[in-house]
Amino acid sequence: MNAMTQDNLRSAFGGESQAHMRYRIWGEKAKKDGFPNVERLFLATSDAEQVHATLHFKALADIHGDFSVISGGGFGLGTTSENLQGAINGELFEVGQMYPAYLAVAEMQGEKEAVKAMRFAVAAEQVHADRFTEAKSAVDAGRDIDAENILMCPVCGYITFDTEVDCCPICNAKSSIFVAY
Ligand SMILES: [Fe+2]
Ligand SMILES: [Fe+2]
Repeated sequence: MNAMTQDNLRSAFGGESQAHMRYRIWGEKAKKDGFPNVERLFLATSDAEQVHATLHFKALADIHGDFSVISGGGFGLGTTSENLQGAINGELFEVGQMYPAYLAVAEMQGEKEAVKAMRFAVAAEQVHADRFTEAKSAVDAGRDIDAENILMCPVCGYITFDTEVDCCPICNAKSSIFVAY
């Protein structure tokens, strides 16, 4: 594929991914403001942007092969085990390199809100890496994960399979607000 088209696809993937998230956030706000149909429109369009992002990703994956799966956060589409390893690598990159550097800058600049957002994220990304690691061990053993319940803390992004936990170990939110998948 032409290099410029590859760059354009990467850029379009980034833009569509962000629009997907932005519409979900704006949908939540519309719901809070009392416009449930506007929320549904945002959710439907958010999913449509995901369709576009997926098409771009697959077009890139065709030419990237396994390389990006190994580096994490790339455009590879491998086996589920390979994709889980890519997810682990991407999460650990955020934990070990990206957020520590970003946090150091935000702390130095006294940006309290940014520091809080990044502290939640870095702690939760470590947990994501742990859950993906558990999933990879199961998949490599030829079975699905033993996770009847997957719960996500909507305050900080913590994820657990454990329904007994009563508050979030990262942000202290009550587990009654956890979202089940
Ligand atoms: Fe994560
Ligand atoms: Fe939390």
